Amino acid sequence: MESCDWLVTDDGQCISCDSIDKAKIPLDYYRLYRFLTDLEDILKDIKDDGKRLEKIRPLVRRLLTSSYWLQGEYREPDPDKGWSVLMLYDEPGFMLTVQTVVWLPGMVSPIHNHGTWGVVALISGEEKNTFWRRTNDPEFPDRIEAVGDRILSPGDIISFTPDAIHSVEVIGEEPTITFNIYGETEYEQRFEFDVVNHTAKLF
Ligand SMILES: [Fe+2]
Repeated sequence: MESCDWLVTDDGQCISCDSIDKAKIPLDYYRLYRFLTDLEDILKDIKDDGKRLEKIRPLVRRLLTSSYWLQGEYREPDPDKGWSVLMLYDEPGFMLTVQTVVWLPGMVSPIHNHGTWGVVALISGEEKNTFWRRTNDPEFPDRIEAVGDRILSPGDIISFTPDAIHSVEVIGEEPTITFNIYGETEYEQRFEFDVVNHTAKLF
Protein backbone atom coordinates (compact mmCIF):
# COMPACT_ATOMS: atom_id res chain seq x y z
CA MET A 1 0.00 0.00 0.00
CA GLU A 2 1.12 3.54 -0.74
CA SER A 3 2.47 5.31 2.34
CA CYS A 4 1.31 8.85 2.96
CA ASP A 5 2.66 11.98 4.63
CA TRP A 6 0.24 14.34 6.37
CA LEU A 7 0.36 17.74 8.02
CA VAL A 8 -2.28 18.73 10.60
CA THR A 9 -2.56 22.50 11.01
CA ASP A 10 -3.65 24.66 13.97
CA ASP A 11 -7.16 24.87 12.47
CA GLY A 12 -7.55 21.08 12.20
CA GLN A 13 -6.97 20.64 8.48
CA CYS A 14 -5.19 17.40 7.57
CA ILE A 15 -3.21 18.16 4.43
CA SER A 16 -1.63 15.53 2.18
CA CYS A 17 2.07 16.28 1.64
CA ASP A 18 4.61 15.08 -0.91
CA SER A 19 6.34 11.97 0.36
CA ILE A 20 9.96 11.15 -0.42
CA ASP A 21 10.22 8.87 -3.45
CA LYS A 22 11.25 5.47 -2.00
CA ALA A 23 13.57 4.93 -4.98
CA LYS A 24 15.45 8.07 -3.96
CA ILE A 25 16.12 7.02 -0.38
CA PRO A 26 19.90 6.42 -0.11
CA LEU A 27 20.72 2.79 0.52
CA ASP A 28 23.42 3.44 3.09
CA TYR A 29 22.63 3.02 6.77
CA TYR A 30 21.08 6.17 8.30
CA ARG A 31 22.06 6.04 11.95
CA LEU A 32 20.12 7.70 14.74
CA TYR A 33 22.96 10.10 15.59
CA ARG A 34 23.10 11.36 12.00
CA PHE A 35 19.34 11.78 11.97
CA LEU A 36 19.61 13.82 15.20
CA THR A 37 22.39 15.95 13.69
CA ASP A 38 20.33 16.61 10.56
CA LEU A 39 17.38 17.50 12.76
CA GLU A 40 19.49 19.89 14.82
CA ASP A 41 20.61 21.67 11.63
CA ILE A 42 17.03 22.01 10.40
CA LEU A 43 15.82 23.39 13.73
CA LYS A 44 18.70 25.89 13.84
CA ASP A 45 18.22 27.07 10.25
CA ILE A 46 14.40 27.12 10.01
CA LYS A 47 12.12 28.79 12.54
CA ASP A 48 8.74 28.24 10.86
CA ASP A 49 7.21 25.00 12.19
CA GLY A 50 5.41 24.12 8.94
CA LYS A 51 8.65 24.46 6.97
CA ARG A 52 10.56 22.50 9.61
CA LEU A 53 8.07 19.64 9.35
CA GLU A 54 8.38 19.66 5.55
CA LYS A 55 12.12 18.95 5.97
CA ILE A 56 11.78 16.53 8.89
CA ARG A 57 9.14 14.14 7.46
CA PRO A 58 11.44 12.76 4.69
CA LEU A 59 14.21 12.21 7.26
CA VAL A 60 11.83 10.21 9.44
CA ARG A 61 10.90 8.06 6.45
CA ARG A 62 14.57 7.55 5.60
CA LEU A 63 15.36 6.63 9.21
CA LEU A 64 12.57 4.08 9.44
CA THR A 65 13.43 2.63 6.04
CA SER A 66 17.09 2.07 6.85
CA SER A 67 17.11 1.49 10.63
CA TYR A 68 15.18 -1.69 11.28
CA TRP A 69 16.30 -1.91 14.91
CA LEU A 70 14.14 1.11 15.74
CA GLN A 71 11.01 -0.77 14.73
CA GLY A 72 11.63 -3.39 17.41
CA GLU A 73 12.44 -0.88 20.18
CA TYR A 74 9.33 -0.47 22.28
CA ARG A 75 8.01 -1.31 25.72
CA GLU A 76 5.11 -3.72 26.28
CA PRO A 77 2.30 -1.73 27.90
CA ASP A 78 0.87 -2.52 31.29
CA PRO A 79 -2.57 -4.02 30.40
CA ASP A 80 -4.28 -1.87 33.05
CA LYS A 81 -2.79 1.33 31.72
CA GLY A 82 -3.12 0.41 28.04
CA TRP A 83 -0.15 2.33 26.70
CA SER A 84 3.62 2.69 27.09
CA VAL A 85 6.38 5.08 26.09
CA LEU A 86 10.00 4.09 25.49
CA MET A 87 12.17 7.22 25.40
CA LEU A 88 14.91 6.65 22.82
CA TYR A 89 16.50 10.08 23.11
CA ASP A 90 15.93 12.95 25.54
CA GLU A 91 18.98 15.08 26.28
CA PRO A 92 18.47 18.02 28.66
CA GLY A 93 18.91 21.27 26.76
CA PHE A 94 18.44 19.64 23.35
CA MET A 95 15.29 20.72 21.59
CA LEU A 96 13.61 17.42 20.84
CA THR A 97 12.66 13.97 22.11
CA VAL A 98 12.51 10.67 20.24
CA GLN A 99 10.30 7.85 21.53
CA THR A 100 8.29 4.81 20.55
CA VAL A 101 4.75 4.56 21.88
CA VAL A 102 2.48 1.50 22.10
CA TRP A 103 -1.32 1.66 22.55
CA LEU A 104 -3.41 -1.44 23.12
CA PRO A 105 -6.59 -2.21 21.12
CA GLY A 106 -9.62 -0.24 22.29
CA MET A 107 -7.61 2.66 23.70
CA VAL A 108 -8.74 6.22 23.00
CA SER A 109 -6.55 9.23 23.80
CA PRO A 110 -7.81 12.45 25.35
CA ILE A 111 -8.35 15.35 22.95
CA HIS A 112 -5.12 17.35 23.10
CA ASN A 113 -2.57 19.51 21.38
CA HIS A 114 1.18 19.18 21.98
CA GLY A 115 2.43 22.74 22.53
CA THR A 116 5.23 21.96 20.08
CA TRP A 117 5.70 20.50 16.61
CA GLY A 118 5.49 16.71 16.33
CA VAL A 119 5.97 13.90 13.83
CA VAL A 120 4.42 10.47 14.33
CA ALA A 121 5.15 7.48 12.08
CA LEU A 122 2.96 4.42 12.32
CA ILE A 123 5.09 1.25 12.55
CA SER A 124 2.27 -1.24 13.09
CA GLY A 125 -1.44 -1.42 13.82
CA GLU A 126 -4.08 1.05 12.68
CA GLU A 127 -5.28 4.22 14.35
CA LYS A 128 -8.00 6.75 13.72
CA ASN A 129 -6.97 10.35 14.20
CA THR A 130 -9.77 12.86 14.77
CA PHE A 131 -8.93 16.53 14.21
CA TRP A 132 -10.50 19.42 16.10
CA ARG A 133 -10.46 23.21 16.10
CA ARG A 134 -11.53 25.99 18.43
CA THR A 135 -14.87 27.52 17.47
CA ASN A 136 -14.02 31.13 18.53
CA ASP A 137 -17.00 31.15 20.87
CA PRO A 138 -16.67 34.38 22.94
CA GLU A 139 -18.37 32.70 25.89
CA PHE A 140 -16.25 29.50 25.80
CA PRO A 141 -12.80 30.21 24.30
CA ASP A 142 -11.85 26.52 24.68
CA ARG A 143 -14.93 25.23 22.89
CA ILE A 144 -13.86 22.91 20.07
CA GLU A 145 -15.52 21.11 17.19
CA ALA A 146 -14.46 18.09 15.13
CA VAL A 147 -13.15 19.00 11.70
CA GLY A 148 -12.43 15.57 10.23
CA ASP A 149 -10.66 12.29 10.75
CA ARG A 150 -8.23 9.93 9.05
CA ILE A 151 -7.28 6.30 9.54
CA LEU A 152 -3.53 5.76 9.49
CA SER A 153 -1.84 2.51 8.46
CA PRO A 154 1.75 1.29 8.87
CA GLY A 155 4.14 3.48 6.87
CA ASP A 156 2.01 6.62 7.21
CA ILE A 157 3.66 9.68 8.72
CA ILE A 158 1.57 12.42 10.30
CA SER A 159 2.93 15.74 11.54
CA PHE A 160 1.42 18.42 13.75
CA THR A 161 1.86 22.14 14.29
CA PRO A 162 2.01 23.16 17.99
CA ASP A 163 -1.67 24.13 18.27
CA ALA A 164 -3.09 21.28 16.16
CA ILE A 165 -5.71 19.47 18.26
CA HIS A 166 -6.33 15.74 17.84
CA SER A 167 -7.48 12.55 19.51
CA VAL A 168 -6.37 9.05 18.62
CA GLU A 169 -8.23 5.75 18.73
CA VAL A 170 -6.73 2.32 18.12
CA ILE A 171 -8.64 0.54 15.35
CA GLY A 172 -8.82 -3.25 15.12
CA GLU A 173 -7.26 -6.02 17.19
CA GLU A 174 -3.58 -5.10 16.94
CA PRO A 175 -1.76 -2.66 19.24
CA THR A 176 -0.37 0.42 17.52
CA ILE A 177 3.36 1.05 17.63
CA THR A 178 4.44 4.53 16.64
CA PHE A 179 7.74 6.37 16.34
CA ASN A 180 7.27 9.88 17.72
CA ILE A 181 9.42 13.00 17.65
CA TYR A 182 8.44 16.20 19.43
CA GLY A 183 10.09 19.59 19.77
CA GLU A 184 10.51 21.41 23.05
CA THR A 185 7.11 21.41 24.75
CA GLU A 186 5.67 24.76 25.85
CA TYR A 187 3.87 23.33 28.86
CA GLU A 188 1.71 26.42 29.34
CA GLN A 189 0.50 25.93 25.75
CA ARG A 190 -0.32 22.21 25.94
CA PHE A 191 -3.96 21.42 26.71
CA GLU A 192 -6.35 18.57 27.20
CA PHE A 193 -9.84 19.54 26.00
CA ASP A 194 -13.22 18.72 27.48
CA VAL A 195 -15.62 18.70 24.55
CA VAL A 196 -18.71 18.45 26.78
CA ASN A 197 -17.97 21.31 29.16
CA HIS A 198 -16.08 23.44 26.59
CA THR A 199 -13.03 23.71 28.83
CA ALA A 200 -9.31 22.95 28.58
CA LYS A 201 -6.69 22.21 31.20
CA LEU A 202 -2.90 22.00 31.11
CA PHE A 203 -1.42 18.52 31.11
FE1 LIG B 1 -0.95 13.55 20.23
